[in-house]
Amino acid sequence: MIDSTTFYRPKYAEIWAIEAVAAIILAPEPNNAGPPMPPLETQRLIIRDVQPADAGAMFAYMRHEPYWRDLPIEPPTAASVAAMIDARVQDQAREPRTSYFLAVADQTSGQIIGEAILTIRSTRWRQSEIGWAVSHDRTGQGIATEIGQALLDLAFDKLEQHRVYAQCRLENRASRQVMAKLGMREEAILRENVLARGAWWSSVQCAMLKTEYQLP
Ligand SMILES: CC(C)(COP(=O)(O)OP(=O)(O)OC[C@H]1O[C@@H](n2cnc3c(N)ncnc32)[C@H](O)[C@@H]1OP(=O)(O)O)[C@@H](O)C(=O)NCCC(=O)NCCS
Repeated sequence: MIDSTTFYRPKYAEIWAIEAVAAIILAPEPNNAGPPMPPLETQRLIIRDVQPADAGAMFAYMRHEPYWRDLPIEPPTAASVAAMIDARVQDQAREPRTSYFLAVADQTSGQIIGEAILTIRSTRWRQSEIGWAVSHDRTGQGIATEIGQALLDLAFDKLEQHRVYAQCRLENRASRQVMAKLGMREEAILRENVLARGAWWSSVQCAMLKTEYQLP
């Protein structure tokens, strides 16, 4: 005779499966937008968290050789830029947040004309790395220097970093000049520390300490 206890007794594997499905259904949606970072405003720029919708505008300048020539990457494609931006958007939600990949927009036109990057390399010792890029049709106007100053302000003023450094390819004279204009001190030539597109590149590293930083 079949009674209510013998009719259906779930096995452990079934209970596990039901719980797993319930966990997926009941789990909160991942917050891909992350905690909002207030946009940074400079004289000419708005610097804000990148969003997936920025992929087209960023690919428009990243695809040109002056963008990638001195960067240790393969020439960007629309797909690689979209994937990179998706990954950086995921970073926005990480706790503690250590990665800031920011879109740089012209305040007047709203057009995206570059990027600003800050990565906290050591939360324990409050050490960050910064970087920048500007669309080739807007270079030579002091935009990277404006981005760099905003990143130093973010690092020292808001994120309470102790030391901020930047590296660029030895041959990247424009970026070296940006570091110098920002008041970052040259610390080292790193010999053949990067393997890019089949060749070893050397880098220049410059840094600024909190004690050397002055609010503009
Ligand atoms: C490097 C880069 C960010 C510079 O952007 P930018 O907006 O033109 O920079 P700025 O105008 O603020 O400053 C550039 C300085 O370099 C100088 N410069 C440019 N090309 C130079 C060269 N070949 N040799 C020497 N100096 C050069 C400019 O004259 C200017 O200095 P000045 O103001 O004293 O005259 C831009 O060229 C870029 O995006 N390159 C591709 C990405 C990249 O390499 N990013 C850096 C990775 S670390």
